[in-house]
Amino acid sequence: MSGATILEKAAAAPRTLTRGELAALIDWPDLDALFKAAYAVKLREIGPRVSLRGLVEFGNVCEKDCLYCGIRKSNANVRRYRMTADEIVAAAKRAKDAGYGSVVLQSGELTGEANVAFAEEVVRRIHAEAGNEFGITLSLGEQTEETYRRWKEAGAHRYLLRIETSNPDLYAKLHPASHSWKARRDSLRALRRCGYQVGTGIMSGLPGQTTDDLAADIEFFAAEDIDMIGMGPYIPHPDTPLGAGVSLTGDAAKKRLELGLRMIAATRLHLHDVNIAAATALQALAEDGRERGLLAGANVVMPNVTDTRYRADYQLYTGKPCIGEASDLCRGCMARRIKSIGEEPLWNARGDSPHWRKR
Ligand code: 5AD
Ligand code: FES
Repeated sequence: MSGATILEKAAAAPRTLTRGELAALIDWPDLDALFKAAYAVKLREIGPRVSLRGLVEFGNVCEKDCLYCGIRKSNANVRRYRMTADEIVAAAKRAKDAGYGSVVLQSGELTGEANVAFAEEVVRRIHAEAGNEFGITLSLGEQTEETYRRWKEAGAHRYLLRIETSNPDLYAKLHPASHSWKARRDSLRALRRCGYQVGTGIMSGLPGQTTDDLAADIEFFAAEDIDMIGMGPYIPHPDTPLGAGVSLTGDAAKKRLELGLRMIAATRLHLHDVNIAAATALQALAEDGRERGLLAGANVVMPNVTDTRYRADYQLYTGKPCIGEASDLCRGCMARRIKSIGEEPLWNARGDSPHWRKR
């Protein structure tokens, strides 16, 4: 199929592209045409609106040891913290008062009854105070189905768990042997069974990753019937096995950002009606990275509402933005950024995935 027709075919109907066509989209020579086509689909499916989630990074203690992640268990250079339940509930209230309409609770991955019960109690309190119209998304890693069920019953209704890559062999190269791709995939299925809106995503620009891998990632989102996508560029962290001695600057950083944007556009063009986040990692590579994510087809941003004194200790990658900003500053800044591209923040709304609503 000739060039222009793949863009047209993608825009005309969802989920019709072959792996080869997806790869062609990701490599599309005319960047502007790719982003415009994806943005047109976003406008048609969702309108000129951006959903907001207040992000609470409530702890950086982690049981996992992913080779790319700055808060991996083996990184001794991290000052570990856990916010108290009162602090987390207060941060969620800040998100609600700011008009964000929903909150994302994220932390390092912790299992065990004490941690599970802690999160359950926090969700219960936020839900009781904020009510049904306030969205609660969790991003707390791989857990048992029973745990997912408890958190759902406590009031959470969306869950983010990135598969990181749909290629099990590549996954194995990025994680210690104790981490299992299949267990992660099965967690996504358990979340679906529990009735969550399910979010996943990948990192783009990983060492050894090919365009075919990225095309397969988008096929994976479709095959698992995913409701929400959060993806971003891989950014090396110096205190990790994968990132030590690697720096991402100049042209390489530009290319890495561009690949992240290409993935957003190709995903929007294939899936049409899912929520797609303009990940914070985009802004780590360029000041206007998130706005560019929105113009490439994303419709969600996650302004940070974590207490400022903890933000610097939650660095999964280098160059994380907003580390020193207080939450109220981010609110104005985000709104301005969104309006600068002719879109409107969707205040005080849960912003559920249209794909999930149809199902
Ligand atoms: N660069 C970019 N993203 C990263 N994440 C973890 N480490 C990095 C990194 N070095 C992402 C992973 C994880 C999410 C919470 O952060 O995709 O799922
Ligand atoms: Fe935090 Fe701009 S979004 S300062």
